[in-house]
Amino acid sequence: MVPDRPKPETPKTVSSLTEDMAGQDYILSDGLAVSLFLALRRQRPLFLEGEAGVGKTEVAKTLAALLGRRLIRLQCYEGLDIAAAAYEWNYARQMIEIQSAGQGRLSSAELFTAENLIERPLLEALRADEAGAPVLLIDELDRADEAFEAYLLEILSDWQVTIPEFGTVAAATPPIVIITSNRTREIHDALKRRCFYHWVDYPSLEDELAILKRRAPEAPADLSEHVVRFVHKLRDANLFKAPGVAETIDWAQALVELDCVAIDPAQADSTMGVLLKYQDDIARITGSEAARMLTEIQAEMSGYRTG
Ligand SMILES: Nc1ncnc2c1ncn2[C@@H]1O[C@H](COP(=O)(O)OP(=O)(O)OP(=O)(O)O)[C@@H](O)[C@H]1O
Ligand SMILES: [Mg+2]
Repeated sequence: MVPDRPKPETPKTVSSLTEDMAGQDYILSDGLAVSLFLALRRQRPLFLEGEAGVGKTEVAKTLAALLGRRLIRLQCYEGLDIAAAAYEWNYARQMIEIQSAGQGRLSSAELFTAENLIERPLLEALRADEAGAPVLLIDELDRADEAFEAYLLEILSDWQVTIPEFGTVAAATPPIVIITSNRTREIHDALKRRCFYHWVDYPSLEDELAILKRRAPEAPADLSEHVVRFVHKLRDANLFKAPGVAETIDWAQALVELDCVAIDPAQADSTMGVLLKYQDDIARITGSEAARMLTEIQAEMSGYRTG
């Protein structure tokens, strides 16, 4: 007999949620911890907006791992429709059933059955398993068309999908829903109203150091601090595209590959393509600007500040 494994419980306090997520290598900012905690407790979708690479998608993945739930991910794109997002009828199977029964012998109730229904992520997310309701990640909603947003309203407020030929499929337990957007367009108020909202900002120095400790443990503490301080300066430099947390991790790992202990200007220049992905930004930073930032960092880290 397989012994019952205890089901992970939803954290009871904000601080236990923060701790548990850190145990899964995700560092929650104080603000996100409160929003996520409330979304879980109040069973409301959490709508996360923010720049690229600040950890929006990762929240949902980590939460699913933490709670031992299935992660169901719906990646949005232009032209995403109900057939790809919610359900589709298995026409091939229906055709075979019609042919074997003989023309006109099957009623629509016999054709539009649960067996002939192909579940896509939104419908799948209404079904809980032994571990509980799944985590539904609706990723990059701003890429989908507005009509699709309207379609989501029924699911997000009533936890159900209406299928005209079949009926209404409702969730016994609501899924945990995380919606993300990179804000390439505004999401409609009607949808936002059904969610708790949080703007995911770049992490503080301390939080980003803690992230590196977990995600790039091979980087020595001193190098990590150089990396994080440098990235923070880049984020203040009014670039076309500032580096996200993913780039911070990549840079630390790249510098370890190159056996760096502290960063010198030449190394910063030659690895800038790990951090910045636009040539105009790279041209602005490499050379004297990177050297100036590194000198400032050196001064900050040895305890006194320049100008
Ligand atoms: N708070 C955090 N704690 C731990 N790791 C983090 C955190 N934030 C970001 N990361 C790391 O950064 C990577 C990028 O995060 P993620 O893919 O979630 O960003 P995103 O906000 O969804 O970006 P995009 O808008 O480009 O999809 C993650 O794989 C993770 O390794
Ligand atoms: Mg993402």
